Amino acid sequence: MDNSGYIHTFSKKEQDRLLTQGQFLEPYFYPRIDFNVCHRILEIGCGVGAQISIIARKFPNLTIDGVDLMESQIDRARTVLENLIASKRVSLTIASAYDLPFPDNYYDGVCIFCVLEHIGDPLAALNEARRVLKFGGVFYCTEVFNSGLYIYPDCPAISEYWAAFNQCQTGMGGDPDIGIKLVNLAAKAGFEQIDFHDVSSILDRRMAAKPRRVEFLNFWKSLFLSASDKLVSEGKITPEVVLKLHEEFDDLIENMDTIFLYSGKQIECYK
Ligand SMILES: C[S@@+](CC[C@H](N)C(=O)[O-])C[C@H]1O[C@@H](n2cnc3c(N)ncnc32)[C@H](O)[C@@H]1O
Repeated sequence: MDNSGYIHTFSKKEQDRLLTQGQFLEPYFYPRIDFNVCHRILEIGCGVGAQISIIARKFPNLTIDGVDLMESQIDRARTVLENLIASKRVSLTIASAYDLPFPDNYYDGVCIFCVLEHIGDPLAALNEARRVLKFGGVFYCTEVFNSGLYIYPDCPAISEYWAAFNQCQTGMGGDPDIGIKLVNLAAKAGFEQIDFHDVSSILDRRMAAKPRRVEFLNFWKSLFLSASDKLVSEGKITPEVVLKLHEEFDDLIENMDTIFLYSGKQIECYK
């Protein structure tokens, strides 16, 4: 895979965004993730190490391996996780989710965050995740369900942009709705005791404080805009729509009737 196969790109700005994303989504992703009984786990598609740093903090006795296909991501992860690597708690390898360089039945736990949405054969990746997991080991997979985006009041530019974003990701061989398909995929891969959780994030009147509304909506705006250069340069969206999108996000911050639901799904299952 190169830049052309990954909608968010591998720029320094995007790597920084992944680190912010890890922290922002931690309260949504982690309430049900429990590696307390595990000794050694693997994160497949670890990117720049955002999730590994959270997991290492939450589970201080864990040894964590991470793999990612892209050398530039692993290079950045080596800097982010420098201390954990020095203390031998974390080890990183460049490898594909389709061909993990680890033996069968090796890990107590395996996890994936926001990777299957980008790859052409998610079932093959789940088969491989299951292969390296010990019998009785736990597997967590957390993915987006982009069709589940709900915004009130209507935002035509955001909707137009989001449709182009998702079409583009599908055209690149990804699946922006993979989250809703996780249970079926995991069952096909042979996982058992599959639990399905909603890890969606929502803004409504409960989030009344302006700084929190700004942080929340700016985070999602930055995720959407991670593909804007590509979408504009390929003629899939006009610069005017991008400008209007900024205005609509600003209006959503001010309007106390706003509802903004971004949908994410998570499975927990066992081998
Ligand atoms: C959105 S990032 C998520 C990174 C990390 N899991 C996180 O949540 O911060 C997706 C990552 O998947 C990696 N990736 C894409 N296809 C892959 C594959 N076939 N094998 C391994 N990693 C892959 C990309 O290089 C990228 O770093």
